[in-house]
Amino acid sequence: MATLASRGATASHDGDAGRTLNLTLQVWRQKNATSAGKMVTYEAKGISVDMSFLEMLDVVNERLIARGEEPIAFDHDCREGICGMCGMMINGIAHGPERATTACELYMRHFRDGETITIEPWRAKAFPVIKDLVVDRGAFDRIIQAGGYITAPTGGARDANAILVPKADADAAFDYAACISCGACVAMCPNASAMLFTAAKVAHLGHLPQGQPERDDRVLRMVEQMDVEGFGACTNIGECAAVCPKEIPMDVISYMNRDLLRATRRKDREAKTSNE
Ligand code: SF4
Ligand code: FES
Repeated sequence: MATLASRGATASHDGDAGRTLNLTLQVWRQKNATSAGKMVTYEAKGISVDMSFLEMLDVVNERLIARGEEPIAFDHDCREGICGMCGMMINGIAHGPERATTACELYMRHFRDGETITIEPWRAKAFPVIKDLVVDRGAFDRIIQAGGYITAPTGGARDANAILVPKADADAAFDYAACISCGACVAMCPNASAMLFTAAKVAHLGHLPQGQPERDDRVLRMVEQMDVEGFGACTNIGECAAVCPKEIPMDVISYMNRDLLRATRRKDREAKTSNE
């Protein structure tokens, strides 16, 4: 999990008080899903180093609106690293230069006065651009719909301690559940692979007793949907884990591959038996 030290952005920076930056932004502008896009240059002057990256974009947009120009469309919701909405490539890095940090938690003090910053949407066939920096991440939703759930009987809620979970499994499930479905792993991967995201979901439920009844079917269906959506294959490059704002480790992909192998073998055995 991310630590305060690794995030860097929330510590006290008294020496920065009142400091501002004059920046040049090169931003991907695209009217809609079907039109061609292009990089457009904007000046962003007098930006406080205490602003978040999204607050900087808010300021730029206010100035664009004041001039009667179309503001830059970008996704955001919680602005505190929880919802996963604020994905964008900043200087070619998913979520920007700070480790374990979402774009909404990235602060302008990490940029230099006079710097030119490029801002682009996630680049992946499975995440088509809707407008400017906004992409359609519905492919992730469909992977979850394919198997990222448990079937629970209805009725009164059971006591919290009725199903005991070993501490190590509870900790692992909690770590993998930290994935916020932001898509940075896909955007940074040269293959546009969704393995880290899908594996985090598979491993989260796979470490819990509630996830066991559907464990084999879950991995088979989620991996199949991942391929249907057009995500690429994993070739162990590791860019996904390097940019993941929740520090999901690459070994989760090995976990999913083991589950996939076991489930595939079981399915093959069952098919063979039913043919005899
Ligand atoms: S694995 Fe990390 S980078 Fe990928 S969607 Fe989840 S939180 Fe985002
Ligand atoms: S806006 Fe929610 S994670 Fe950035």
